[in-house]
Amino acid sequence: MKMRIGVIFGCQTVEHEVSVISAVQAMFNMNKDKYEVIPIYISKEKEWYTGDLLKDIANYKDLDNLKRYAKKVVLYNKDGRFVLQNKKGLKTIIDEIDIAFPIVHGVQAEDGTVQGYLDMIGIPYVGSDLYAGVVGQDKVFMKQIFTACDIPIPKYLWFFDSEYYEDKEEIIKRIKELEFPVIIKPAKLGSSVGINRVNKIKDLEDAIEDSMGYDNKIVVEEVITDLIEVNCSVLGNYEYQELSAIEEVMSTEEFLSYSDKYIGGAKGTKSKGMASTNRIIPARIDEKLTKEVKSLAKKVFKILNASGVTRIDFLIDKKKNKVYVNEINSIPGSLAFYLWEPIGKGYKKLLDELITLTIRSYKNKNKKIYSFATNILQNPTNLKGGKGKFSKLN
Ligand SMILES: Nc1ncnc2c1ncn2[C@@H]1O[C@H](COP(=O)(O)OP(=O)(O)O)[C@@H](O)[C@H]1O
Ligand SMILES: [Mg+2]
Repeated sequence: MKMRIGVIFGCQTVEHEVSVISAVQAMFNMNKDKYEVIPIYISKEKEWYTGDLLKDIANYKDLDNLKRYAKKVVLYNKDGRFVLQNKKGLKTIIDEIDIAFPIVHGVQAEDGTVQGYLDMIGIPYVGSDLYAGVVGQDKVFMKQIFTACDIPIPKYLWFFDSEYYEDKEEIIKRIKELEFPVIIKPAKLGSSVGINRVNKIKDLEDAIEDSMGYDNKIVVEEVITDLIEVNCSVLGNYEYQELSAIEEVMSTEEFLSYSDKYIGGAKGTKSKGMASTNRIIPARIDEKLTKEVKSLAKKVFKILNASGVTRIDFLIDKKKNKVYVNEINSIPGSLAFYLWEPIGKGYKKLLDELITLTIRSYKNKNKKIYSFATNILQNPTNLKGGKGKFSKLN
């Protein structure tokens, strides 16, 4: 029997559309001889849908229509089976899946939210767990861990919006100690949304206020001026890590914007997700820098205990020949398949390896102890503290 893969995508996030593109690409490329692909689309209203029409990108032009014809479902664990049950009318089981494959991006999705739900119901799923998801999404947590592990990052500071409202002057004073230009980012967004470069102090407040519209944690970091941006994908888990080709990404603006990433180059090319960004593979960097990027990519992947396929992004200062890690994407756009093709791993093979890796990790995970066989609540009078009285728990 074919293994049933439930591809989960969409969600209430600014990267909803990007996720739809990534997921439809992946579903199209999955080996149909081995796998039954079941789309599970989560709308911006947080409703879950399934149905074959969700496999065709053309159907997403009219979302109301799509939702009318797709089936509204819930995914849950029914006696050890992972079922998609009709949400309206008769509670019939519409479909069943063996493995979940989240292809979601951003907050309330990639950031551990979806992974947490999948852990709760106990289904094996492709990719990183919720811990790597959280750290990969929150740029403050990420930078704090990178600093603790000696991963080079640009000089930065961060603050809460409430601290800014309370004492704006103090925050501005701290920012002035950084070298300008600086870049202001909401801590937990993605796809360059809410990010602004500030060349002059007078423009600082507008940029901060824009970022604060998206998040309560704001990051301010020094801009790497003579910049080459390169990305490297890492595949594996904590035991082994495989490295992709390194891409050099080009921007049409001062930094890689949402439209650079997804709308395509200046010629108005059709949207193809991250696969359409202006890029050069392999990146035009020398052997020494290549080695450094690869070694840092592996290190970042490992310290976050990531799994599946990720993409680690770098900022290189051309003049100083210095490499900085910008971020990790725990579920990268287009699953970074275009970085594996140049080294001989086609998309089908990549997807296949991701699923195999998931099955192996699930087996290993189940060998660990998650609960005790004893139930101390069976006999409450024997509890520490004596007869019927509940003692303080340590
Ligand atoms: N310190 C920096 N120096 C120069 N450019 C930067 C810096 N930080 C970010 N950028 C530019 O902004 C883009 C988006 O920033 P990034 O931190 O990757 O946010 P996102 O999570 O939205 O992708 C980067 O791809 C890069 O072009
Ligand atoms: Mg980025």
